[in-house]
Amino acid sequence: MSEPKYRTMGQQFGRRSWAEPWKIKMVEPIRMLPPEARQKALTQAGYNTFLLRSEDVYIDLLTDSGTSAMSDRQWAGMMLGDEAYAGSRNFYHLEGAIRKYYGYQHIIPTHQGRGAEHLISKALITPGDTIPGNMYFTTTRLHQELAGGTFVDVIIDEAHNPTSHHPFKGNVDLVKLQAVIDRVGAQKIPYISLAGTVNMAGGQPVSMANLKALREFCNQQGIHIYLDATRMVENAFFIQEREDGYQHKLIAEILHEFCSYTDGAWMSAKKDNLVNIGGWLAVNDPKVAEKARNMVVIYEGLHTYGGMAGRDMEAVALGIEEMVEDDHVRSRVEQVRYLGQLLLDWEIPIVEPIGGHAIFLDARRFYSHISQSQLPAQTLAAQLYLDSGLRSMERGVVSAGRDPQTGDHRYPALELTRLTIPRRVYTQAHMDVVAESVKAVFDAREQTKGLKMVYEPEYLRFFQARFEPIG
Ligand SMILES: Cc1ncc(COP(=O)(O)O)c(C=O)c1O
Repeated sequence: MSEPKYRTMGQQFGRRSWAEPWKIKMVEPIRMLPPEARQKALTQAGYNTFLLRSEDVYIDLLTDSGTSAMSDRQWAGMMLGDEAYAGSRNFYHLEGAIRKYYGYQHIIPTHQGRGAEHLISKALITPGDTIPGNMYFTTTRLHQELAGGTFVDVIIDEAHNPTSHHPFKGNVDLVKLQAVIDRVGAQKIPYISLAGTVNMAGGQPVSMANLKALREFCNQQGIHIYLDATRMVENAFFIQEREDGYQHKLIAEILHEFCSYTDGAWMSAKKDNLVNIGGWLAVNDPKVAEKARNMVVIYEGLHTYGGMAGRDMEAVALGIEEMVEDDHVRSRVEQVRYLGQLLLDWEIPIVEPIGGHAIFLDARRFYSHISQSQLPAQTLAAQLYLDSGLRSMERGVVSAGRDPQTGDHRYPALELTRLTIPRRVYTQAHMDVVAESVKAVFDAREQTKGLKMVYEPEYLRFFQARFEPIG
């Protein structure tokens, strides 16, 4: 194993270091519990990091969802909340921001991303339909299934291989898509479920060329494309960095162009939009918008607030303006890379290329002696917490759940533990602490044993399942 190389980000890339394009105005103290208290907290949490109390966590990399630090401008905007039940001025600000930066016409706010997934799935899916997509996401697929559809994965093979260096591992494989059409018929496919910066593949992007080809293909087949825009800004960064013809385009321009090849999008505003809560659905077809508006009043709230307070809509609108700043996106992705590069220097197995929002530890290679049925990724998340109070998340067999037809566990090719970096929250020094903790757990890997599930909820089991160490 090679010696650690202590290098600045700038040295790694042969240029001067970058720094966060913000300074800290308010702080929130964090503390590390002693080892016995960490063991007690983890036991009480059933070895599930979702069941830990946040105050027992030192560095919280569970998720980048709703964990961003808002800017002074956003906090000031919160004071301008128009809390009228109907027609809040903040809704019109939000609508304007989505139209301007994403380019869609009809906007329906929701309480968070899964609210929008619920609406679009119910609006478009007829029981018996098939929804091809570039890898499943937990809540997205569940809403598609609850609406009577079946999700089919048509992402390129490279996405399932953590060591493949393909620059756009989120791409759709048109041959696989054609095979699905041959099997079920285009009329049984209401839309393609396309995600930017594919979360479950390790934060991997879709190229503009792939989307253009997909659009042409779908036009011929009469199939729509709907986008999970949750992390599209990070996807735009990868296009700017890697795709010919985009190096001199702004993130905002790339985002707008990408969305223009799709028919609409659902959004968890808790990620790219830099807020703690919120979501939206945006579509171009007025008929789909009408259906969704009819449903939003049942499940979320009136169509001009959809479960959000006026002040929250204001924060989303301002967050959209801030998220497209090139400096912001660059420093966000480079911070993730800084952590990933430290781990690679220590030969710790992670998904490559390093993605946009998180480092995904490859638990199969990390714990090569623990079989997938003994939950290596869940085990790794537990061990990281025990080592340093670091909270991460399982993205493997537990997250994949059971096949609704057979009832069997789904065993995904990727068995990952996700270290997800909140936006504008932690500094580079925190990343150093995280990297050293991962290394300590890696060095002790041979003594580690797996886990077994002792409580399994019916839906999205990873959130509330409980585990025990195997004897
Ligand atoms: C890619 C993706 N889509 C949809 C969602 C669902 O959004 P929310 O958590 O706001 O309901 C998430 C949340 O983690 C996500 O990562």
